[in-house]
Amino acid sequence: MAKSKTVYVCTACGSIHPKWSGKCTSCGEWNTIEETVVSAPAPAPKNYTLSASKIISDSTIATPINKISLVNEHRYDTEIGELNRVLGGGIVKGSVVLLSGDPGIGKSTILLQVCGNMAKKYNVLYVTGEESANQLKLRAKRLGVNEDKLLVMSHTDVQFVCETIQNSKPEIVVIDSIQTMNLEGVNSSSGSITQVRECTNMLLRVAKSLDIPIIIVGHINKGGDIAGPKVMEHIVDTVLYFEGDRINSYRILRAIKNRFGSTNEIGVFEMLENGLCEVPNPSSMLLSGRLSGVSGSAVSCLMEGSRPIFVEIQGLVAATGYGNARRMSTGFDGNRLNLLLAVLEKRCNMHFGNLDTYLNVVGGLRLDETAADLSVIFALVSALKEKPVPDDMVVFGEVGLSGEIRSVPRAVLRVLEAQRLGFKRCVLPRSCYKQLMSSAIPEGIELIYVKTVKEAISLI
Ligand code: TYD
Ligand code: MG
Repeated sequence: MAKSKTVYVCTACGSIHPKWSGKCTSCGEWNTIEETVVSAPAPAPKNYTLSASKIISDSTIATPINKISLVNEHRYDTEIGELNRVLGGGIVKGSVVLLSGDPGIGKSTILLQVCGNMAKKYNVLYVTGEESANQLKLRAKRLGVNEDKLLVMSHTDVQFVCETIQNSKPEIVVIDSIQTMNLEGVNSSSGSITQVRECTNMLLRVAKSLDIPIIIVGHINKGGDIAGPKVMEHIVDTVLYFEGDRINSYRILRAIKNRFGSTNEIGVFEMLENGLCEVPNPSSMLLSGRLSGVSGSAVSCLMEGSRPIFVEIQGLVAATGYGNARRMSTGFDGNRLNLLLAVLEKRCNMHFGNLDTYLNVVGGLRLDETAADLSVIFALVSALKEKPVPDDMVVFGEVGLSGEIRSVPRAVLRVLEAQRLGFKRCVLPRSCYKQLMSSAIPEGIELIYVKTVKEAISLI
């Protein structure tokens, strides 16, 4: 009988503590430490005994790096361009991919679509612990997935799942979701940190030993009462996050970790009646509903990986009814908004003190790039002056505390894309002048270089 002991595990970061405390000393989160009873993991299924470390390197002898021959990894095409892009060109054979995101965001939907596409050529196994085979069939009908190479199994015993993978040797496996899987012999309920970790480890061993890619769904849970997929992030090869809100139909797929590609790329999807649809040109989609000649709106250009994306930023100011003025921001950091308002006040003599200020990034996008600063300022000043920013103008640049406008990377790419989308004027930092002069100057777009915020807002 396996000996069990009690440990205290942080549900946010997975660190183990000898005793309970209110705050996790590893990640600093409060109220995330839970008592867990752990026992020795169950014996591995009969037919496989390899441990992950043995599989990853077939030789245990240290080899000079220049003697190691490079084997190009084999990638499977998912037939969904945006997903391939985020993965770095397709699913790598033998890799373990974790797909996580809020409930209802579309994880099961996209994976069933991937399975449908891949089952045209390969054998695919879809394991669901969340739905019955009948429920899955209903969704498949909606998505038009009906391939005979797609095997569906509704099961939660991970050992049984691993044995099935070993016996039927599919080319790709989907596990939906890791929180529903359980390993017999582990003395805690499904979804607990220990279960999630043990189940993932077991699946990883199968993936590496049989060279089969496995995509695992992991839920994130705001309360943190069910083990989040954080503990898995260290174990798996690739971590993908599905973002967006359920009300908005647009979804953004992002790689947080990728051992086989870059983590800068994003994929944009739209949830439609018949599943998730790729949005190959997100800029025109994001700008499509824009009203012309309205104050409080500016277009910014962000770089998402190697791709420039244009997005509308809206500002609104209104007299404060009572008490302190409100500052609300959706899709942009609230502290940065306060900082930019302070710069406007101190350096440009524009006062927002007794005005409620609202900022909104259209399309559910989050702006993390400082290049969006100047466009936020344009949206706010345009709202304050009640003067529209010209429709054919795009704005980007980082704003410093002295009211200066600082350079942003990849200015040339942004300008070229602006020109391609039909913008006629581009406001950009003076310090980008050299970058642009050293490359072919795009024609048909007027470049307005600005050095300070004061100079920039005089354009409105
Ligand atoms: P789902 O893939 O079940 O989410 P998750 O697995 O991440 O929890 O997606 C559920 C939502 O998607 C649900 O609210 C219905 C919606 N949906 C569509 O709008 N169109 C579709 O074709 C499908 C299959 C689902
Ligand atoms: Mg689901």
